[in-house]
Amino acid sequence: MSECSTSCPAAEDPTLQRVRRIAESYRGKEGSLIQALHAVQSAYGYLPLEVQKIVSETLDIPLPTVSGVVTFYSFFSTEPHGKHNIRICLGTACYVRGGVRVVDRLEEILGCKVGHTTADGMFTFEIARCIGACGLAPAISIDDKVYANVNPDEIPQILASYYKAEEANA
Ligand code: FES
Repeated sequence: MSECSTSCPAAEDPTLQRVRRIAESYRGKEGSLIQALHAVQSAYGYLPLEVQKIVSETLDIPLPTVSGVVTFYSFFSTEPHGKHNIRICLGTACYVRGGVRVVDRLEEILGCKVGHTTADGMFTFEIARCIGACGLAPAISIDDKVYANVNPDEIPQILASYYKAEEANA
């Protein structure tokens, strides 16, 4: 009787099979690890360890090397992204006008740290270096919308509007 463990490609779910096919398209191409990881992240959404292992096996690159690249670059994520992406600007203008207080308040309200996703999957929040609203600092963006002159006390109201919209669409 033949056995198929979870490491057998035939036992993988279709999304992981797709990840393997994408990674295979970079096999033998020297210096293509970052490109391969970008392509895989676009397809899978993020780069958890099991996905990193597939990339490592397929490209024949040691797993610590793959993991090192994933953790070094901020554009790679090992966690799924939330429905909405909050970017808090800590560029010079926002920093001097209270950006850190905005970060602290968001961490407190969302119950997670910068670079992570809330337990309910609603928000991922990250630091940005400038979102083009320096004259209206401190600024944050949520998806494509920019919020200027953000007062930390207004944040609960801003976030509540996303929960309300979610309920309305349910
Ligand atoms: S520094 Fe924050 S928007 Fe430019």
